[in-house]
Amino acid sequence: MQMIHTRGLTRHFRVKGETVEAVRGIDIDVEAGELVAFLGPNGAGKSTSLRMLTTLLPPTSGTAMVAGCDVLKDPIGVRQRIGYVGQGNGTGAGHRVRDELVTQGLCYGLPKAESQKRADELLVSLDLQPLANRAGMTLSGGQRRRLDVALGLVHQPELLFLDEPSTGLDPQNRANLWEHIIRLRREHGTTIFLTTHYLDEADSMAERVLVIDHGRVIADDTPAKLKDDLAGDRLTISTRNENDAPRALEIAERITTLHETSVEGTVVNMRARRGNALLPEFLRALDASGITVLTAEVKRPTLDDVFLALTGRSLRESELVEETETVARSA
Ligand SMILES: Nc1ncnc2c1ncn2[C@@H]1O[C@H](COP(=O)(O)OP(=O)(O)OP(=O)(O)O)[C@@H](O)[C@H]1O
Ligand SMILES: [Mg+2]
Repeated sequence: MQMIHTRGLTRHFRVKGETVEAVRGIDIDVEAGELVAFLGPNGAGKSTSLRMLTTLLPPTSGTAMVAGCDVLKDPIGVRQRIGYVGQGNGTGAGHRVRDELVTQGLCYGLPKAESQKRADELLVSLDLQPLANRAGMTLSGGQRRRLDVALGLVHQPELLFLDEPSTGLDPQNRANLWEHIIRLRREHGTTIFLTTHYLDEADSMAERVLVIDHGRVIADDTPAKLKDDLAGDRLTISTRNENDAPRALEIAERITTLHETSVEGTVVNMRARRGNALLPEFLRALDASGITVLTAEVKRPTLDDVFLALTGRSLRESELVEETETVARSA
């Protein structure tokens, strides 16, 4: 069964007489049980998309079926089947942590005893038990984030949306949260659709990555395939003497298509698809030509290299530009 199916999903905002095209006609398909990461720089349209999928924001145009229900025709059906942890904190300030979880369960129609049982399970699995009787406002940012996630899980939704769940958590709590997400999938088959700015997390945890930029989905595949197809591996070899380096590059070019090539002294740099598979053949060809290779290195690309290949900008750079603009605007 398909858990998310959108066609031409679009959302515009009117701001001071101008139209902001936050999401420009995105098509998303997510199967039951998938863990999909939604990546993109600040302002790309991730949260706006999530808010449409979770019925919090009506689309300007386009269609979206979520957990088998139409977001416009059956928003209640969608809400019953999904969990949503928004980017901002949703927890009430004055309530105790455990009470908040129990109340959330009651809101979703669980009987009291069941709500209490769920609350206690979640307190344990998200390491919140020592904080069970603390008021929400006394929690640290990371503790509050864990409570937000616990609240999204109370009714054991079949589809869970997480908007930057790990932002603001220390490495140990990030790992802890991921453990929970992975376990949720393994034990309950929960479908998970999340946004994150940690590309390494998306790379290692998600089986599929959607990249959104300026409101459009510009890539949709497994992290491995995106890296192989769009970025390729970086190969660096060093030869014994400077005359051999340009010759080595010529030989490599005969074997495969190369990108971003350079020769600096005895060092040859290049980017190639499936560089790790290519390297042995390349070394044999160099050996046959009497070129001695002193060192050889293959570096796997990152998802940031993928973004660079797609847009000509680094995801990190785009974020920095955005931050600088925001600071400049607010100054
Ligand atoms: N309520 C709103 N009114 C006007 N513009 C909005 C509104 N919500 C979002 N936008 C604009 O829509 C665009 C997409 O915003 P969105 O919050 O979806 O980005 P994002 O990808 O979640 O970014 P971030 O990584 O910073 O969370 C931005 O240009 C933003 O300023
Ligand atoms: Mg956002």
